Amino acid sequence: MGHFTNKVAVVTGAGSGIGRALALELARRGARVAISDVDVRGLDETEALVRGLGGDVRSDVLDVSQRELVMTYADSVVEHFGRVNLVINNAGIAYFGNTDETPFKDIERVMDVDFWGVVNGTKAFLPHLEASGDGHVVNISSIFGLFGVPSQGAYNAAKFAVRGFTEALAMEMRMSGKPVKVTCVHPGGIKTNIVRNSTAVQTRSEDLQRMSNLFDKHLTRTTAAKAAEVILDGVEKGKVRVLIGPDAKVLDLMVRAAGPRYQSLVRFFAGRTGL
Ligand SMILES: NC(=O)c1ccc[n+]([C@@H]2O[C@H](COP(=O)([O-])OP(=O)(O)OC[C@H]3O[C@@H](n4cnc5c(N)ncnc54)[C@H](O)[C@@H]3O)[C@@H](O)[C@H]2O)c1
Repeated sequence: MGHFTNKVAVVTGAGSGIGRALALELARRGARVAISDVDVRGLDETEALVRGLGGDVRSDVLDVSQRELVMTYADSVVEHFGRVNLVINNAGIAYFGNTDETPFKDIERVMDVDFWGVVNGTKAFLPHLEASGDGHVVNISSIFGLFGVPSQGAYNAAKFAVRGFTEALAMEMRMSGKPVKVTCVHPGGIKTNIVRNSTAVQTRSEDLQRMSNLFDKHLTRTTAAKAAEVILDGVEKGKVRVLIGPDAKVLDLMVRAAGPRYQSLVRFFAGRTGL
């Protein structure tokens, strides 16, 4: 019996990229999975792939920013499977825009999905995870939750917030002795559609194609399948923080060693690449 055998796992944003890879890897490791996404076609493809592995899967269209819907969804997943052991709040969107040019509504949208989506998923499932006696919350932040990058203010804000929220929760669970482990994940560049699916403020919209090419060519060292393996290995070991990819490990060290002077290095790189 493996760590995930017969456990019930929830994965948001499972219609693409890391979420899809997580659903498949969980099924391979014997978990029963509840997958959701706003992208119906992507979700259907993931469902078919999980079934192809012989996995037990439930699939729902769900926008993680819709709090009431997430609350109802949590109850219905528990009713369906009888319990929930693992929730992976993975759904996310990327956005490019300098702060002075970015409308409030765009920043709010990124926060709604990337931060509030994580809070909604965590709070909706927390009582059920506790009730399982063997629960685990995994929240996907980013290396951009470890350091700031120009043109990424909204995404940086959301991913830093996910990190703070998740680390506080991890300590609360340990101090209260509740049976819920908590992991915050910081992926580096992972080969997915995230940049291709991203939006940008008007002045950066022409840059999107160039950024997407740059991301695909130079900034993605790790596959989504590998990312899923690293995340689930980290969950199995009960790690509180998981860094994915050599870029994430090097940049994490750089930021800690340089302190606030890391900004000069990022500015240099951003100036060279036009980020
Ligand atoms: N790919 C990377 O390099 C990278 C790096 C760091 C962090 N991340 C994070 O990993 C997570 C997964 O990203 P990915 O790279 O697999 O991207 P992706 O674009 O391939 O997949 C993200 C999925 O989330 C879904 N989604 C978007 N908004 C949603 C909403 N409101 N409700 C429900 N689902 C929604 C999308 O439809 C998509 O299927 C995100 O949180 C992202 O910020 C990715």
